[in-house]
Amino acid sequence: MTRILMVCLGNICRSPLAEGILQSKTDSNSVFVDSAGTAGFHVGNPPDKRSIDIAKKYGIDISNQKCRKFSKSDFNKFDCIYVMDYSNYENVIALTEHDIQKQKVKLLLTEGTSNNHEVPDPYYGGIQGFDNAFRLIDNACDNIAHKLTKDES
Ligand code: 4NP
Repeated sequence: MTRILMVCLGNICRSPLAEGILQSKTDSNSVFVDSAGTAGFHVGNPPDKRSIDIAKKYGIDISNQKCRKFSKSDFNKFDCIYVMDYSNYENVIALTEHDIQKQKVKLLLTEGTSNNHEVPDPYYGGIQGFDNAFRLIDNACDNIAHKLTKDES
């Protein structure tokens, strides 16, 4: 079982999309995907309605997800921790205690085809930002799913 954690700030906009998108492209018998936020503002809440709506537009249901805060114990529970932007990266790296943990933390879009390695935070903007986030995350998750499938065979 490969265990992958998607992380953003609030765990209500970008990382819930990343969780749902990667789950939709992988086999739950061999890949476990979860998400968390470095901040605890929305713990226990479902994803932002705009994220639920944009995921639904592309055929993915993320409405049952519940926000949780990233915890140091996640470094042991997951093989790979993908963050959405540099600020998330700094927040997670600040919690690491040794190099093995640091090496697990990567910007999600380093797996994508774009030279831009940040998924911009769509929280304070309109639905267009959520569509943009979906497309960027989807592109990176295609490549991750492809790699994981190759590893299995
Ligand atoms: P996310 O977006 O990190 O993609 O979930 C945000 C959600 C909430 C807030 C900021 C960003 N907030 O300030 O409440």
